Amino acid sequence: MTEETLSNLLREDRRFEPPAEIAESANLKADAYERAAADREGFWAEQAERLDWSQKWERVLDWDDPPFAKWFVGGTLNASYNCVDRHVEAGRGDKVALHWVGEPVEDRRDITYAQLKDDVSRAANALTELGVQTGDRVAIYLPMIPEAVVAMLACARIGAPHTVVFGGFSADALASRLVDCEAKVVITSDGGYRRGSASALKPAVDEARAKTAEQGHTVEKVLVVRRTGQDVTWDDAVDVWWHDVVDSASADHTPQAFDSEHPLYVMYTSGTTGKPKGILHTTGGYLTGASYTHWAVFDLKADTDVYWCSADIGWVTGHSYMVYGPLANGATQVMYEGTPDSPERGRWWKIIQDYGVTIFYTAPTAIRSFMKQGREIPDKFDMSSLRILGSVGEPINPEAYVWYRHVIGGDRTPVVDTWWQTETGSIMISPLPGVTHGKPGSAMTAIPGVSAEVVNEEGNAVPNGSGGYLVLTEPWPAMLRTIWGDDDRFRDTYWSRFRSQGFYFAGDGAKKDEDGDIWVLGRVDDVMNVSGHRLSTTEIESALVSHPKVAEAAVVGAKDEDTGQAVCAFVILRDEAGDGGDDIVAELRQHVRKEIGPIATPRQIMIVPELPKTRSGKIMRRLLRDVAEHREVGDVTTLADSTVMDLIKDKESAGKGED
Ligand code: WTA
Repeated sequence: MTEETLSNLLREDRRFEPPAEIAESANLKADAYERAAADREGFWAEQAERLDWSQKWERVLDWDDPPFAKWFVGGTLNASYNCVDRHVEAGRGDKVALHWVGEPVEDRRDITYAQLKDDVSRAANALTELGVQTGDRVAIYLPMIPEAVVAMLACARIGAPHTVVFGGFSADALASRLVDCEAKVVITSDGGYRRGSASALKPAVDEARAKTAEQGHTVEKVLVVRRTGQDVTWDDAVDVWWHDVVDSASADHTPQAFDSEHPLYVMYTSGTTGKPKGILHTTGGYLTGASYTHWAVFDLKADTDVYWCSADIGWVTGHSYMVYGPLANGATQVMYEGTPDSPERGRWWKIIQDYGVTIFYTAPTAIRSFMKQGREIPDKFDMSSLRILGSVGEPINPEAYVWYRHVIGGDRTPVVDTWWQTETGSIMISPLPGVTHGKPGSAMTAIPGVSAEVVNEEGNAVPNGSGGYLVLTEPWPAMLRTIWGDDDRFRDTYWSRFRSQGFYFAGDGAKKDEDGDIWVLGRVDDVMNVSGHRLSTTEIESALVSHPKVAEAAVVGAKDEDTGQAVCAFVILRDEAGDGGDDIVAELRQHVRKEIGPIATPRQIMIVPELPKTRSGKIMRRLLRDVAEHREVGDVTTLADSTVMDLIKDKESAGKGED
C-alpha cells in the first residue's frame, strides 16, 4: 500500500447516535464486548446454543494444529433442520419464510416455514433418488428463485456440500468450478428474468458439461427448474426436470445429524492467481457465526421484522445473510429475482413499501447508482417501516452513507457498515445498531467475539491515526477451514504473512482513526473490487491472453465513481495480428465476457506496444493504475526500460485503442 493511500485519512466529523428505542431493546448491548473479551470461547459457546444440536459438543475450539480449526468438536447437527424444521416444530409453521418477488410484477409467492420444510424434504428425497450421497458435491446455478434456497437446504439436509455458482458467470467459469470440486449433479433452470426479459441459463450448463467431459470429469445429472418456459436442449440420459422428480417426491424426510465439522459448502472466490479458490465452510461453526451475527448486527426481532438482503445467492452474502443466517433465526424475508430498475426505477423502494421491510441490506455500488438517479424516485415511496440499514462489499464513501441514511432511512435508521469476506463466513467488523454511534465511512470495531487489528509490516499494531494491514488475531467459528483440495494455498494465502503472530491476513488495507475506529481502505493485493464483486487481475489477464490476437496483457483496477473500481486492461497484440482490426477492443471485451462473465468486462482496453516491467519481469501495475486514473505517472526508476511509460502515455493522449 502506498504512503499516499495510508496518509489519506478521511476527515469525517458527522456522528449518529443509536435511536433510543433500538438502544433500549437491542439484542446485544455494550456489555457483550467485555463478556466476549473475558471469555471468548464461553461467549461463542453461548452463541452456539442458539442452534439445535443433536449431540452437544465436547470442546468449543480445537486450535491445536493451526491454521486448521475445529469448532464445537464432537457436536452433531443438521443445518437444514436448524433453518426449517425446528421453527415448524416450535409452532411457527405458518410464518412466512420467504416473500418471493419475481421480476415480472405479477410473479409473487409467499412461502411459509411449513411449506419450505415440505419443499426442502421433497428436494432432499429427489436428490437422494438421483444418486447424491452424503459428501457428494452438488453445483447450483440458478437465478434468484425459491428453488435456489430449497436446493441449498436440500443439499445441507443430506450432507452433500453445495457450490453455488453466480448465474452471471460464463460456461467456462462454471466448468472450472465443476471440475475443481468434482460436482456430481448440477441444479439449474431454463433461465430467469433480468432487466425485463428472460435470459437463458441451461445452455451454459450444457456447454460447461461438455468442457468438463474434455477434462475427464463427468457430471452425472442436471436437474432443471422450469422458470421462463424457454426452449432447452435436452439430453435424456442426464437432464431431469425439477417438477418431474421433486414435485412427486415424498415430503417426509428425516434429517440426519452430521458432525459439526462436516463440509457445508464450497464458495469460489477470486484470489491473486488465475485459479479461483474454493473456500470451504463447515456446519456448526459457520451456522453459529451466521445466526449470531444476523441477530446481533441487524438486531433481528424475528416476530416482527421483515428483512431483505438484496445480494444474489451466488455470493457469500446471499449464503450467510439470505439463506443460513435469517432462516436459522426464523426470520421473515423478501427475496427478489430481478434488477432494481425493472420494470421501472424505484422497484426496490416499491418492494420495501409493499412488504413493510424493516431491515434492508445492500451494497454501496447500488446506493451510489440510486444517488445518481436522484432522490425524487425513492421519495415517491413510503419507506417508514425501515429501522435498520446495512452495507456490505466495499468501502462505503461517507456521502453515500449519509444519503442512504437520510433519503432511504428518513434519518431514523442506523447504518451498519459490515466488513467481512467469503473467507470469514460471517460479519467481523461492524457497528452494533443499539450500541455504536454511526460514523460515515467507518466499519468501526470488531463485533463481540471477534478480534481485529491493523498492523504494520512487522505485525505490530499501529497507533491510532495510522494505517496498515487488516488482520484477525483470533480464530472465529465461521472461519474458512481450507481451500478445497489445497491446504498449502490456504496456509500461504492467509496465514504466512504474519505466521509468527498467528494472524489471519485478510488482504485488505485499513487505518485506525484517532478514536481507534477502523476504516477499511480496500485490497492490497492483485484483487479488484468491482461493484462489490471480487475479481482477480490475473484471472482477467489469462482470459485476455487466451485470445488468439493477444500476446500479453496487464489488468488493473482503476477508481470508478459508480462501481468503486473498474477493470482497465493494457494489451500487447501479437505481431501477426497487426493492429488487430477496427473492432479489436470490442472483440476483446466480448471475449472476456465469454470467458468469465459480464461483471469482468473491462471498462477500458488500451492496445499498447510495451508493458512496464521491473528488471525481474514483474509488471508494475502501480504505473498502469496511474495511467488508468489519469494521474501523473509515479516513480519509474525500477523499470527495466524507462521509456516504456512514454510510449503508453503517447497512446493514451492519442486516445487510440480506447473504448
Ligand atoms: C471488501 C463480501 C470495505 C474487502 C462479504 C473484502 C469491504 C472483500 C466491506 C470481500 C466493507 C467487504 N468495507 N470493504 N464493509 N465489505 N469489503 O469475499 O476488500 O466478496 O476483502 O465478501 O470485499 O469480498 P467478498
